[in-house]
Amino acid sequence: MVVLGIETSCDETACAIVRDGVEVLSNVVYTQIKLHQPWGGVVPEIASRAHVEKIPGVIAAAVDEAISGGGLSGLSEVDAVAVTYGQGLAPALIVGLHAAKGLALSLGVPLICINHVEAHLHTPFLETNLAPESFMPALGLAVSGGHTSWVSMPAYGTYEIIGQTLDDAAGEAFDKAAKLLGLGYPGGPIVDREARQYAGTDFIRFPKGSPRSGTAALAGLDASLCTSFSGLKTALLNYVRTSYGGTVPASARGDIPRICASYQKAIVEALADRTATALTRHRYRALLVGGGVSLNGALRTALTAVAEAAGVEILLAKPKYCGDNAAMIAGLAYYRPGLTGDAAIAADVCPSLEAGEAAGTS
Ligand code: KG4
Ligand code: ZN
Repeated sequence: MVVLGIETSCDETACAIVRDGVEVLSNVVYTQIKLHQPWGGVVPEIASRAHVEKIPGVIAAAVDEAISGGGLSGLSEVDAVAVTYGQGLAPALIVGLHAAKGLALSLGVPLICINHVEAHLHTPFLETNLAPESFMPALGLAVSGGHTSWVSMPAYGTYEIIGQTLDDAAGEAFDKAAKLLGLGYPGGPIVDREARQYAGTDFIRFPKGSPRSGTAALAGLDASLCTSFSGLKTALLNYVRTSYGGTVPASARGDIPRICASYQKAIVEALADRTATALTRHRYRALLVGGGVSLNGALRTALTAVAEAAGVEILLAKPKYCGDNAAMIAGLAYYRPGLTGDAAIAADVCPSLEAGEAAGTS
């Protein structure tokens, strides 16, 4: 089954063509980072406008790439069109959904609506020969700029959130730190790079992101499986104020690697700690990790150690599939039912969709 997937939930305009869930025939990602950099974060209206401009070219490029790679003879070989319908920015999601609907209807094939967080958890299987079902039950960890969730997967296609961040996502915490330190956007890769420059062991003690167990935001979740990163960001702000009186001056530029290494350590330890706890709650066969933050080398190392200690196999997404892409959308679609006729026409976006939720329930 050949699926053409479209992803426009945030600041990447992406299209990919995937055969049978894992064989990537093409994968095109246009990243809008440069457009959002002056604002220090993603501006939904700018993202939406850029998706409108770029989506025809990105789809055409994905089709051309699949044909020139010998994996596809033409659009007529596409069996279904998949698209992210949530979670994401409403004006951005709408562009992808409408493009996908138009394409599905014009080709006379089903439209498959995909949950973005669930798709991140499919990325470890892309370009492998692994059968997802044989790794179940699994624990999934989706860590990106928009989400930090621990998801229990008893069978492939069944998702239950067992832990999550109560405020900022891990990527958001990285992005806010870089902004506060005047390092630019997106913050994750910059903080990661700076942290690698620090060879010492004299880390600043930042809070490890533990929420208080009584907090209402837990909504029935176990506090020991949740994180809270807003306090970490405030601790960094206080540190910079106390140490430098506001912003880090150029004369103290040499302190940045130590600050970044300490801040990153707090995030990595929080994520590794909750993962270790989650792995004790059930006899999982595998730990699946996806999302932009899973590009972080220190996090990959820490999670690998946690999985090893728990005797569980870890499957990390290949670096090119960690950030937002459409191969994960087209890949997961192989396991999902499609919509046709009036149901396809009526499909709508679901901006606050969580893993395990179906359309119309969020
Ligand atoms: O998955 P993604 O591309 O988009 C969302 O769904 O949010 O993730 C983007 C996030 C950003 O917050 C970015 O700073 C973070 O991933 N990120 C990293 C690294 N590379 C990207 N965070 C930590 N270390 C990295 N190397
Ligand atoms: Zn994402």
